[in-house]
Order: sequence, then structure tokens, then C-alpha cells
Amino acid sequence: YSEHNSIDQEAVIKSDRAYELGAIDWDSLGFSLTPTDYMYVMKCSQGQSFKKGELQRFGIIELSPSAGVLNYGQGLFEGLKAQRKQDGKILLFRPEENALRMRMGAERMCMPSPTVEQFVDAVTATVLANKRWIPPPGKGSLYIRPLLIGSGAVLSLVPSPEYTFLIYVSPVGNYFKEGIAPIHLLIDTEVHRAVPGGTGGVKTLGNYASVLKAQTTAQAKGYTDVLYLDCVHKKYLEEVSSCNVFVVKGNVISTPAIKGTILPGITRKSIIDVARSQGFQVEERLVAVDELLDADEVFCTGTAVVVSPVGSITYHGERLSYGNGEVGVVSQQLYSALTRLQMGLTDDKMNWVVEL
Ligand code: COI
Repeated sequence: YSEHNSIDQEAVIKSDRAYELGAIDWDSLGFSLTPTDYMYVMKCSQGQSFKKGELQRFGIIELSPSAGVLNYGQGLFEGLKAQRKQDGKILLFRPEENALRMRMGAERMCMPSPTVEQFVDAVTATVLANKRWIPPPGKGSLYIRPLLIGSGAVLSLVPSPEYTFLIYVSPVGNYFKEGIAPIHLLIDTEVHRAVPGGTGGVKTLGNYASVLKAQTTAQAKGYTDVLYLDCVHKKYLEEVSSCNVFVVKGNVISTPAIKGTILPGITRKSIIDVARSQGFQVEERLVAVDELLDADEVFCTGTAVVVSPVGSITYHGERLSYGNGEVGVVSQQLYSALTRLQMGLTDDKMNWVVEL
């Protein structure tokens, strides 16, 4: 990265341009990339720690063809969102949790990682530099994508000699094409997302590449996405390609426990606390696929998907339906509670929201 690419962070954040809203149609945001103005880049060598990063113009990055990430998938990503409040303030949701999860994942993938403070400072700088791309209240949010990649050249299977921490952002709306309407899942009994002892519990790039085939095959048949089962018993729910799953039965809400094969979602963790604070009994345990038969509601959680109600799940050709096409009461209640908190509309008793 050449010197002249480097940006005066303070000047960018204070410039008039930072205040003019980006010229896009804010009413039709989906979950696709809208290029923004700046990205954050920080590098370090293997065995060293990250020192100082900088904002650069958003654009193409240079990478050796033999970079560890390109050849052996040595990389992690994160996802979090910034919201614009009615009074113009900018809010982040639990950014330290993403920093901590990246640190855990980095350990698993033999990579150095930014400290929590470096991570949160870098997220803050990137969001402020791109603030004209934060959707107006009610139109969506600014999705923040931190990456940690082995950027140094390797040939044999070894940890990369150099690492790059990069953050880019994009305004987004709803993740699923259904918008806020219920989604339709297929249980694919042949494809597994994770194995015990594998990397299912960290946000490594390969976990997502490996489900693309099952996901696109299911989508070609009209399903929204795939719900994966555990690979040992082929009986217990794990997660959906891009989100965690919850099953509601009466006052009890159950979700697969974190045991190394399931991604420890920050929305998952937040919804567990929100549901408990509303009087639900929340159980983190093995959830058998049979429990879907008499569930009242099923919903998914994730940063990108927020809380997405599930309208049907197809298993061995049998379609189980929930809510007659409507959003379930519990899903709706938890969605509202979480998003109101994230948008700064309710009292933040948990201290989860960071105001920039
Ligand atoms: C997120 O929810 O932020 C994720 O990382 C999932 C991704 C597939 C969009």
C-alpha cells in the first residue's frame, strides 16, 4: 500500500463531504455491496503484533498470488452494523464482541489479531469516514465487514508470514429476498457445515464457501436456505448457512448449544438475554430435528439476518409449516425488542449500544 494512499483520518471525518448523503436509492437497499469511500488497513508480520493502521480510499487491494488466504484459506471475517438514530447519532452494537470473536478465531487459524481496542477503534474510524453511507433511520444499516487474512506469500502449508486486517462497509437492507416475511428452509441431510474438532465455531472463510453448493441447490428448488444437522448423529440442529436457529414451544425457546460446531452468534447471544429478560425460559442444548414437528415457531438470528421468522422447514420431503405465512408472535416480539435497542429507541439496560 503506497504512502500517498494514506488518508488524514481527522480531515476525512470533519470534511463537508462526510455529511452529504450518498447518491443511491435508499428505499431499495438489499444485501449487496454498495462501494463506499474508505476502507481501513493494518498489517503485521507473523510473530509480531498489529501496530498502526490507516484509512485508505476504498478500492482494489494488491495480493500475492501465493498469499496464504488465497491458497489455503487462512482468513476470518466478522460482521456488525452501524445505525443512524433519529437525532443523527451513530450507534454500534456490541463491537467488542466481534473483536473478541475475531481473537478466538485467529487463535484457531494461527493468525495474530488486533486487540479489542484496535478493532473497535478501527471500526469507529471506518464508520465515521463513511458516515454519508449510513442509511437514514428506518431505511437500513451500515454493514461493517472486518477481514483478517494471511496476506503473505507461502507455497508449502505453513502460516502466512504476513497478515492484513481490513475493514470495509456497505449500506444494506434486508438479507433475505423475502424481506421481513418468513423464510423457507430445507434440511439437507447429506451436507454438513462442520465437524467436531473442525472450524465450525469460528468465522473462517471456508465455513461459508463449503455451504455454497447446498445453498444454491436449495435455492434453485425454491427454498430460501439450508438448515444443517450435526454430522455424527444426523439428528441435531446446527445452524443455517448464514445464521443461528431457535425453536419456540410455549414459553420455552431452545437453541443448539455452542460446542465447537456452531458459530457463537452475537445476535444469538443477545436474543437469549433479551428473551430471558422478557420471561421466556431459554435452553441451550442439543435440539433434535424431531422437535420441529410440534414447535410453535422457528426463527433464525444473525447480524445480517437480524431475527428472521421461518415459515416452513422441509425434511425428507415433508414440509412443516409455521405461522400460516405470518410472522410468529414470539419472533416478532424479539425482533422488535432487539431492533429497537439497536436503533436507540429503548433504554439500553444491558449497555450494548456504543454511540459514536
Ligand atoms: C453476518 O450475519 O454478519 C454474517 O457474517 C453472515 C454472512 C453470511 C452475511
